[in-house]
Amino acid sequence: SNLASLKNKKILITAGGTREYLDPVRYISNRSSGKMGYAFAEVAQTAGAEVTLISATKQLAAPNGVKVIYVETVTEMMTAVHNNFDKADILIMAAAVSDYQPVQFENHKIKKATQSDKLILELQETPDILKSLKNLHTNQFVVGFAAETEDLLNNAKGKLRAKGADMIVANDVSRHDIGFDVDENAVTILQPNEPNIQISKENKKVIAKKVLEVIAKRFA
Ligand code: PMT
Repeated sequence: SNLASLKNKKILITAGGTREYLDPVRYISNRSSGKMGYAFAEVAQTAGAEVTLISATKQLAAPNGVKVIYVETVTEMMTAVHNNFDKADILIMAAAVSDYQPVQFENHKIKKATQSDKLILELQETPDILKSLKNLHTNQFVVGFAAETEDLLNNAKGKLRAKGADMIVANDVSRHDIGFDVDENAVTILQPNEPNIQISKENKKVIAKKVLEVIAKRFA
């Protein structure tokens, strides 16, 4: 098949939306279901790759033969990625990672204020997992996603450069028929010094297969 060169390759995949806790019962997250990342895991495993899936969701069944590491926060995801990056041949960051986390974690459930009907939440930037790997790449092929609601290709091109990735898979998340939480996606693949590749609306498993075919060419 077109995925033959992925046989026995170690592929690390992230999936789902990270959660940043405010207190023991509340968190900030996003609409990622994990379906895109799980589709990559299933297709790669079927192609004979050795797949480790770092999952921020527990809602989906683990694909057969895939090792799953469950995480919740950006920090946990970053640790899991770092622990597995060395031995990986390919990293695919399909997870929707929080860009901000609460400055303060409250050990007890935050009480409703009696004085005011407003609560101001202070947030700080999270570490950028992809960027943190920039100087740690040896031979890994690193794939990031770009989730954009405007100026898709320009923003994705910026992320390709800023995050030091070998490939960015850009999706328009302003649309509700593709992207977050649905079964289908439509993407544009960006690579340095290569023409962009457009993949029109398909089931996420087909999208994963087509993206993996482009990656497989690099290993053929
Ligand atoms: O999970 P689904 O419901 O199937 O939806 C799929 C999806 C829309 C979530 C997926 O296709 C997708 O676009 N994932 C990336 C979402 C995202 O975080 O995009 P971003 O443009 O904010 O980040 C760019 C890249 O940097 C991503 O690969 C992200 O994983 C990574 N990142 C972001 C922030 C951060 N602190 N660390 C990171 O590594």
